[in-house]
Amino acid sequence: MPSLAHAHSRRPRAQGRSLTVAVLLLMSTPVPPNPIYHSTHRTYGSYLKVPELLDLQQPVYADPRTGLGHRDELLFIIMHQVYELWFKQMLHELDGVAEHLAHDQALRAAQLFERIHKIMHLVIEQLPLMETMFSTEFAKFRDALRPASGFQSVQFRKLEFTCGKKDPKMLQLVGSDDAARVEMAKFLDRPTPYDHFIRHLAREDHNVFNIPRDFLSRDTTRPHALNESLVNSLEVVYRKQDESRKGGGGERYYAQFRVAEHLLEFDKCFQIWRFGHVKMVERMIGGIVGPAVQGTGGSTGAQYLASTLMQPFWPDLWAVRARFGGAPTTGCPVAH
Ligand code: HEM
Repeated sequence: MPSLAHAHSRRPRAQGRSLTVAVLLLMSTPVPPNPIYHSTHRTYGSYLKVPELLDLQQPVYADPRTGLGHRDELLFIIMHQVYELWFKQMLHELDGVAEHLAHDQALRAAQLFERIHKIMHLVIEQLPLMETMFSTEFAKFRDALRPASGFQSVQFRKLEFTCGKKDPKMLQLVGSDDAARVEMAKFLDRPTPYDHFIRHLAREDHNVFNIPRDFLSRDTTRPHALNESLVNSLEVVYRKQDESRKGGGGERYYAQFRVAEHLLEFDKCFQIWRFGHVKMVERMIGGIVGPAVQGTGGSTGAQYLASTLMQPFWPDLWAVRARFGGAPTTGCPVAH
């Protein structure tokens, strides 16, 4: 009689044999191609170009002594690439907003803004992920990046130009990349979403908003400066909306009010991104408290970035809030 130990050792061998037979049988039975997973035309990977995408992260740093890379450089590259993708999507959606407003479809423009805000929130939320890399680690591979810098992000400049931060000096930042310069320049004289909104209001006007006609032919290569006549017009948009609460038929211009609020939300989020970025930069390389630390793009680093804060694209939309309450300041008891 076989010992218990022997019996135990034989059973798995028998199971193993039957498993092998089953696998061989399966292999010899032709499997009909699943039309979803085995399309000869399109797969998940081929449609989304996943192999190509995963081939795009190419770290450049090599330790001079060991020749090894730095493990955090992958995060640094992926984060920037993801941002570029979201910039692309935002530019696409802002095009959509312009188109809807040009066709007087205010509610559809508002709907697209809902999506844009969600993207903005994502890109703001992503910044602290970079901060999981210690500044001591970043310092190890930072020099290898020079002179590349976010300064040269063509899509970021397209976003700024589209929205009204129209600084032609930025065209010089892309170095010898003439194609990028030409591409960026196309965005310099684009009417901004705010231009499109005001043009839309002018068409909806019926002598309600009193849009100053000279604004409609403004030089769209220039940023928006505070325009008190337009602030008056915006005040009407906001007050009209308020009339609905008092039974005054304010629904008529509710869509325009919503667009104004969406423009403001976008402007706010963009400024918050700038603030999050400068604090992240300060955390990584310092340069606000104490002497400036140069960026890889050659600017005064965090100090330059801090100088871009609190500059809205569309000042009128901020100025109009002061019309809705609060007395003009007579001085603060705690101010010096
Ligand atoms: C360790 C992380 C980062 C550091 C230390 C850093 C540092 C800097 C510095 C110093 C500048 C000023 C220009 C210069 O001289 O280089 C700058 C600009 C810029 N960076 Fe970053 N950055 C970081 C991550 C990012 C990320 C993840 C993005 C996302 C796209 C980004 C986008 C930009 C953009 C668009 C500018 C131009 C801003 C402007 O001109 O107003 N940066 N960065």
